[in-house]
Amino acid sequence: MSAAAIFDLHNEVALVTGASSGLGAHFAQVLAANGAAVVLVARRADRLAAVTGMIAKAGGKAIAVEADVRDRDATRAAFDAAESAFGTVSILVNNAGVAHAGRAVELGEEEWRRVLSTDLDAVFFWSQEAARRMLAAGRGGAIVNIASVLGLGVAKGVVAYATAKAGVIQLTKALALELAFKGVRVNAIAPGWIVTELNRDYLTSEKGKALTRQIPIGRFGEERDLDGPLLLLVSDAGRFVTGATIVADGGQSVALSG
Ligand SMILES: NC(=O)c1ccc[n+]([C@@H]2O[C@H](COP(=O)([O-])OP(=O)(O)OC[C@H]3O[C@@H](n4cnc5c(N)ncnc54)[C@H](OP(=O)(O)O)[C@@H]3O)[C@@H](O)[C@H]2O)c1
Repeated sequence: MSAAAIFDLHNEVALVTGASSGLGAHFAQVLAANGAAVVLVARRADRLAAVTGMIAKAGGKAIAVEADVRDRDATRAAFDAAESAFGTVSILVNNAGVAHAGRAVELGEEEWRRVLSTDLDAVFFWSQEAARRMLAAGRGGAIVNIASVLGLGVAKGVVAYATAKAGVIQLTKALALELAFKGVRVNAIAPGWIVTELNRDYLTSEKGKALTRQIPIGRFGEERDLDGPLLLLVSDAGRFVTGATIVADGGQSVALSG
């Protein structure tokens, strides 16, 4: 089979959460560029409109759905909107996420719950909704959860985030096991530092740049460094891959130190 055929997404409907900025906006454009009709979900409607506009200008198909991923009614409404526009969602990318910084002994309950509800609870409920609809439609599908290397190892000051992302990796395996026989594959990507608009100022500062010493490849990741893992997991190229977490971190998580 040719590479073009194996990665082709023309018969797919993809829903990407957190598609208003950063990695999610990029993932939506990559999926559309490879043929998928894409549903972009986030809270900032103006930012979603800008990304759907870029996709349309490039010849792709996309709609925006304003939703908070923690809202269960909004979850169902987003899948309904996707179905009305394009048909059953066959690719779900659970990308929406929030980070926090602060030592465990000082972390408030509200902040803990904000991070866990966005970064872990929502990943389960959006996956559950997607899987129910894929099964009801009698078709398979692919779910990709965006975890982090902080789901594998830890750093100081990120207890809620690291706990949520470790949960995402385990959730990915559990869902993969239950859904495999119905043709729904569930995988995760665990990125290391990827430069996005949120962290660009810090990562390009002198202090930030020093962090590249921890990355064997010698640089931070760029959004396009995740294109290969994403396209593998959502396409026919990854048809026998489920329950996996692909680490894309320039070798950061395998290096001991220095
Ligand atoms: N960049 C990195 O270095 C890196 C490394 C490892 C993992 N990741 C993971 O990659 C994912 C994307 O991160 P990013 O770097 O692209 O950050 P980002 O630019 O801040 O993007 C986060 C996205 O999530 C959305 N979001 C947050 N809370 C939401 C909510 N309650 N409901 C709906 N949407 C919500 C935001 O949209 P609205 O604010 O418009 O709702 C935004 O589109 C996250 O899961 C993050 O943990 C990033």
